[in-house]
Amino acid sequence: MASSRSAARSMVPPARLLRRALCSASGGRGRSRAWGASLSPLERLKRMLPAEEAALVERYAEPRSSASPRAPPEEKMAALPTAARLSRGPPEEKMAARHGPLRAGELVLAELRRKHNATLKMLCRLEPGAVLNSHGGQIPHRDIIGRQPGHVLRSSAGARLLLRRPSLDEYVLLMPRGPTIAYPKDVSAMLMMLDIHPGDVVLESGSGSGALSLFLSRAVGPQGRVISYEIRDDHHSLAKKNYRHWLNTWRIGHTEEWPDNVDFVLKDISRAAEDMKSLTFDAIVLDMLNPHSALSVVHPSLKEGGVCAVYLANITQVIDLLDRIQTRRLPFACERIVEVTHRNWLVLPAKIKNSQRVETQEDGEEDPQQKECDEIQTGDQIVLNEGEGNEPFPDDAETSCSVPYIARPSRWQDAHSAFLTKLRKFQPPLS
Ligand SMILES: C[S@@+](CC[C@H](N)C(=O)[O-])C[C@H]1O[C@@H](n2cnc3c(N)ncnc32)[C@H](O)[C@@H]1O
Repeated sequence: MASSRSAARSMVPPARLLRRALCSASGGRGRSRAWGASLSPLERLKRMLPAEEAALVERYAEPRSSASPRAPPEEKMAALPTAARLSRGPPEEKMAARHGPLRAGELVLAELRRKHNATLKMLCRLEPGAVLNSHGGQIPHRDIIGRQPGHVLRSSAGARLLLRRPSLDEYVLLMPRGPTIAYPKDVSAMLMMLDIHPGDVVLESGSGSGALSLFLSRAVGPQGRVISYEIRDDHHSLAKKNYRHWLNTWRIGHTEEWPDNVDFVLKDISRAAEDMKSLTFDAIVLDMLNPHSALSVVHPSLKEGGVCAVYLANITQVIDLLDRIQTRRLPFACERIVEVTHRNWLVLPAKIKNSQRVETQEDGEEDPQQKECDEIQTGDQIVLNEGEGNEPFPDDAETSCSVPYIARPSRWQDAHSAFLTKLRKFQPPLS
């Protein structure tokens, strides 16, 4: 019994162990010891733990302790790129990097709550002489410039627009699109599947509209590299343009740099065997037709045990891929095939009619295809209409718990996007 408990304790992650023990060592739970006042919380903690756990805690705590002789010297910190320094800096330094008023030249996202609880999202680049046009009226850009993100402004027609910086997933959904992008919900699963770390070198094919390249760029960070192949000239140019556009607008609104770490290569990946000779990849992502044609060329450059994620719309394509891997004896084992599904829910105050709770609005709802993503592009302004609805929220409505709620899965769920196939490289191939 005792041994199984101590085994279980040794499974506790060092971070949690440290937090838990520091909390009790600092007297938070009312325990006191004679030596409590003269020792640091870490010393007190170490005295309370068995020797091996104390050593673990000490090892874990060392790099964070400024008093530690092994803490990184100031010169080393100064040599780190800005982003890395900021990520280690005090919280207020990080805040400064992410906050600040909206500036001319950067992208702003304006959100307008509409009837049926739909949200209209508009993305535009701020220019002092321009005007934001929406179904709910106009707002001159000069009224937006200088405002803090999160500010709500009234349009010429009295509609309230919430103004803020777009997140990366909002940007990729709204940026100009050539071929279909890898959807953000799938990208997060892919990044996890690939186990990408800052500093990794990743191969991507094809670049398409550049959506996945942006997420990979952020994941590998300033010390990493993304090499993105694209066979079509127009897609190659669009991917580069979308990437550059994001970097440039990011630079205006943030003090830390977005890593400029993607090499866009205009070339058929199946003819890139020569390029591959000098490269080693931590991970590979293929979002293209006939990924098997790429696999036979790129597999020697993937590190042993590395993962190649393949993004395919149809399950028949997945079967074809696995069949080709087997017949060509490519050194990959298929670990998983997944489809990422999100279940949308509707939680809204109900409409009361004749003292009864009713769901009236869905009868009159628009076509789900239209409602899901109604995108309009007008000049340099892009509009996305998303959501579904029951009751519109009045501008200054206050909701209280006494209001009966509609709370159920939404009738309109996201459509199928693609299957993710996780292939792991093994040498020699597993049978
Ligand atoms: C669905 S798109 C990729 C979208 C991209 N992942 C994104 O998020 O924007 C597929 C791309 O693969 C490219 N492609 C197809 N075969 C290729 C090949 N042999 N080498 C390089 N690119 C290829 C296509 O031209 C197309 O742009």
